[in-house]
Amino acid sequence: MSLSHELGLSETYSAFINNEFQPTITGQSFEARHSSTGEQLARIARCGKVEVDVAVQAAASAFPGWRATPPEERSAMLLKLAAAVEADLPRLARIDSIDIGRRLFETELDHRFAISQYRYFAAAAITHEGFGRPIPGGYLVAKREPYGVCGQIIPWNVPAIMTAFKIAPAVAAGNTIVLKPDENASLSTLELCKHVAEIFPPGVINIVPGFGEEAGAALTAHPGVSKLAFTGSSEVGRIIAGAGAERLVPVSLELGGKSPNIIFPDIDDIDAVVDNAMFATMYCNGQSCLAGTRLFVHDAVYDAVMERLVAGMERVKIGSGLAPDTVLSNLVSAEQGKRVLGYIDIGKAEGARLVTGGRRVPVEGHEAGYFITPAVFEAHNRMRIAQEEIFGPVLSVIRWKDYDQMIEEANDVRYGLAAGLYTTNLRNAWETADRLQAGSVWINQYFNLASGSPFGGFKESGIGSEYCHETLNMYTHLKAVTIQTQVAQPWFAPRS
Ligand code: NAI
Ligand code: MG
Repeated sequence: MSLSHELGLSETYSAFINNEFQPTITGQSFEARHSSTGEQLARIARCGKVEVDVAVQAAASAFPGWRATPPEERSAMLLKLAAAVEADLPRLARIDSIDIGRRLFETELDHRFAISQYRYFAAAAITHEGFGRPIPGGYLVAKREPYGVCGQIIPWNVPAIMTAFKIAPAVAAGNTIVLKPDENASLSTLELCKHVAEIFPPGVINIVPGFGEEAGAALTAHPGVSKLAFTGSSEVGRIIAGAGAERLVPVSLELGGKSPNIIFPDIDDIDAVVDNAMFATMYCNGQSCLAGTRLFVHDAVYDAVMERLVAGMERVKIGSGLAPDTVLSNLVSAEQGKRVLGYIDIGKAEGARLVTGGRRVPVEGHEAGYFITPAVFEAHNRMRIAQEEIFGPVLSVIRWKDYDQMIEEANDVRYGLAAGLYTTNLRNAWETADRLQAGSVWINQYFNLASGSPFGGFKESGIGSEYCHETLNMYTHLKAVTIQTQVAQPWFAPRS
């Protein structure tokens, strides 16, 4: 039996509109491939303007009914979706693992994060309130109303989390959606549709697979879309923001990162700190916008940290995502692999010292995969490898002595998504967190994401916050309604 069969995949997928996979309109398709063997897993419709238009119309028709659906019922449906994903988790996680090359332990974690998102916004749907106050002779009511059809575009690195981040708050708030998954990682989202069809009314959640310049561009330009949400590279984020400006619709963006992770000399458990810093770099095989890829290590502990870091990186077990002992697996595609190896060369050329790793290694039976040994560079903050988002297992270590200069360098980057720091001094932790320009600051544990933590970027890392109650404000606009108990006595043009 082929892997696709075993995982219950369909041979072909098309646009999911009105709770059905539609017959393909244009007939064009692309391949979903096993990321490390190259085996074809399925064919997926390459949607364009026509399919996007049908999807937006379906979402627009479903909107009045969905908006009028009591929040309690929307909430109940999100809880059902959470339960369905939970029951299907082992299969969905395996699909992601082979589709994008990540180890199973991580893709299972992704789906658990997704489940927590559906549950969080199931609760938030009911507790999302406007506000009100008395005014002379009456009352002001400020209501929160959904926008209508939301156009959402997501990347390939953590498809389960990205799908949940977009679907959950938007539909909780009463919007309907058209979502475009990434061309490298559409399968688990398309499989999710099979659950959606059992739970939600037709047209509330629509998925149009395809390429960015085709389905993505058609979605961002569609006049029936009232709100845009995007996660991906800052380059494309700018294009989406431009499309939003063109039509004057709100845009929320979650973009790249080049996050600092700072080790202070007062740390007491150096092994734990180094392990956490490795996790910060290599989770998602380094393909995470949140990755802590600039490690600032204080001079007093520099040698001790480096010794453990290099030994730790060299111990990392590289292998297929489905092998139980794998720590680091392959990058999503050959394109991404080449891009990362290109950055290794850039680092060497600009004079950074490659201390370990940075080579492509073969893994038997997975010859198509880009498995790259974790790279540690000794670098300066202004080097390109310390300034640009590489999206692979590549760490730049920067030595520091002077606190103010270190803070300046930590902030000297166009991004501002996250930051980490390790210290045993509470006052130092608090004051440093205050000075870092980042949407999240994790003290003594990188990636410390709990449901309800605002997740968003400063500077070029984005606009808006996901993952929290505030996100519902991003998916609604305020309407002021005033009530007077009676019409005022004529004062504008009284009869004499
Ligand atoms: P990308 O930003 O091109 O892709 C993200 C999504 O945008 C995909 O669904 C894609 O189809 C869509 N898209 C692309 N062009 C579009 C357009 N003109 N209009 C509408 N939608 C469009 O990211 P890509 O090319 O896959 O990765 C390149 C680099 O971007 C990575 O190496 C990484 O540095 C960064 N990246 C950052 C992510 C993050 O979460 N911060 C996620 C993915 C990539
Ligand atoms: Mg691209």
